[in-house]
Amino acid sequence: MMRLANLLDFVCILLWAGLSGNLFILASYVPVREYAGPNFFDAWTYWDNVDNTTWGNVTYVDRQTATSSRLAYVNDAGNAIIKVDNTTLISPAPLVNRNSVRITSQDTYGVGNLIVIDVRHIPYGCSTWPSFWTLGTEIEWPNSGEIDIIEGINMLTHNQMALHTIGGCFQAANPGQTGQTIEGDCSKPQGCLVAETKPNSWGQAFAQAGGGVWALQLDVSGIYIWFWSRPDVPPGISSATNTSTLDTTTWGMPSASYPASGCNITQFFTPQQLVIDITLCGVWLLSQTNRAGVPSIYASTCQTPTMSCVADNIIGSGSPAYDNAFWEISWIRAYTNNPAAAPPPPQTTSSLSTQAPALPTSTTTLFVTGSREPTSVIEPTQTPSAAQSTNAFSSTTRLLSIPLCLAIGTLVF
Ligand SMILES: *[C@@H]1O[C@H](CO)[C@@H](O)[C@H](O)[C@H]1NC(C)=O
Ligand SMILES: *[C@@H]1O[C@H](CO)[C@@H](O)[C@H](O)[C@H]1NC(C)=O
Ligand SMILES: *[C@@H]1O[C@H](CO)[C@@H](O)[C@H](O)[C@H]1NC(C)=O
Ligand SMILES: *[C@@H]1O[C@H](CO)[C@@H](O)[C@H](O)[C@H]1NC(C)=O
Ligand SMILES: *[C@@H]1O[C@H](CO)[C@@H](O)[C@H](O)[C@H]1NC(C)=O
Repeated sequence: MMRLANLLDFVCILLWAGLSGNLFILASYVPVREYAGPNFFDAWTYWDNVDNTTWGNVTYVDRQTATSSRLAYVNDAGNAIIKVDNTTLISPAPLVNRNSVRITSQDTYGVGNLIVIDVRHIPYGCSTWPSFWTLGTEIEWPNSGEIDIIEGINMLTHNQMALHTIGGCFQAANPGQTGQTIEGDCSKPQGCLVAETKPNSWGQAFAQAGGGVWALQLDVSGIYIWFWSRPDVPPGISSATNTSTLDTTTWGMPSASYPASGCNITQFFTPQQLVIDITLCGVWLLSQTNRAGVPSIYASTCQTPTMSCVADNIIGSGSPAYDNAFWEISWIRAYTNNPAAAPPPPQTTSSLSTQAPALPTSTTTLFVTGSREPTSVIEPTQTPSAAQSTNAFSSTTRLLSIPLCLAIGTLVF
């Protein structure tokens, strides 16, 4: 009896999946790209300029400099290291900048994508302000949205997550999250900010626990961010390879939730590029919160000889001040829940497409939501609406398939 019931379940799931157009739609995400191992740095653009967006006292170096001065490399464990220069002596001067790295993914990810990052070490220490975030770059900031997944400053002890948008996007009340909401209006300077409440999400404690994993789900129903310290990483993720599918429905409550009832995701977020950076201090726009170099913010977690962010950290040898100012990242994987809505692979044989991960045959035609280079930029409005209509179709067919399965069930038993 039990076996028959299981069989029926299976048949119904197949029927359900078949009716909705493909087998992967059932809360299952299929991989579309992996950034890992020796090829980790292949599909990113280096900023190659001073920090001209958050005005920290850093110069983000180009790829060649980052590689030759070992500010961006893959270590013996096969993990990507992205760090601040801690070997150059910097003397006091009216304007000082220390070398660091900011990289932006060449691919973009929109509604229907899931991004998972496995991190071993987050940059921390006084004056240090790292972030792993996403940015819609189709139109001027913040018109196409920004999502801060990992962000913190100085000696803060927990991670902070946020969305940044133009006016009209809010975090809904009682969103279903474990984190603590600090600000609900995503158009405020600090964004709709949620503080992590789980332990070991930042600094030395994070690293000592073996690091952890974050996941960002960009869905029509909302934007969701999960964090797990190493011992709590769900088995579906810790045992996954770069070809495994993931099922978000088994992950429990996210750390930060932004349901679509408070913010129309497709309206406020165009496809996003991934960004990894480390800036230092930053005192421009004193009215903005969250700046490592703002005296009151600096003093809240750092006690250094002159209480000056620049003088006590950036100036000098760089060591030990920046010995912990490095990312160590095992991998970043991107997934889609809607292979049917993903655009076809680029027609041109770009370096990007040749570096695409080896995927199961059924998914080789997938290619995230379009690459910005060289010729396959996807119109910002195209992908979300395509995803939306496919989702609407599949939920209708799913609803129809339920009575069908119930009817078959009644006939069988
Ligand atoms: C900031 O630097 C980037 C990267 O070099 C450049 O593309 C952009 O135009 C600069 N923005 C401003 C406002 O100078
Ligand atoms: C630090 O950088 C900011 C922004 O570029 C600049 O205004 C400030 O003068 C710099 N401080 C020093 C000491 O260089
Ligand atoms: C959300 O925004 C999209 C794109 O702007 C629009 O087509 C859709 O009607 C909006 N949905 C709601 C519920 O307002
Ligand atoms: C710089 O930082 C690295 C770790 O990020 C550390 O191994 C090294 O000892 C530090 N100091 C110098 C002078 O390289
Ligand atoms: C996927 O993982 C396998 C096994 O670890 C590895 O050989 C392969 O290079 C990976 N693919 C990519 C694109 O990194």
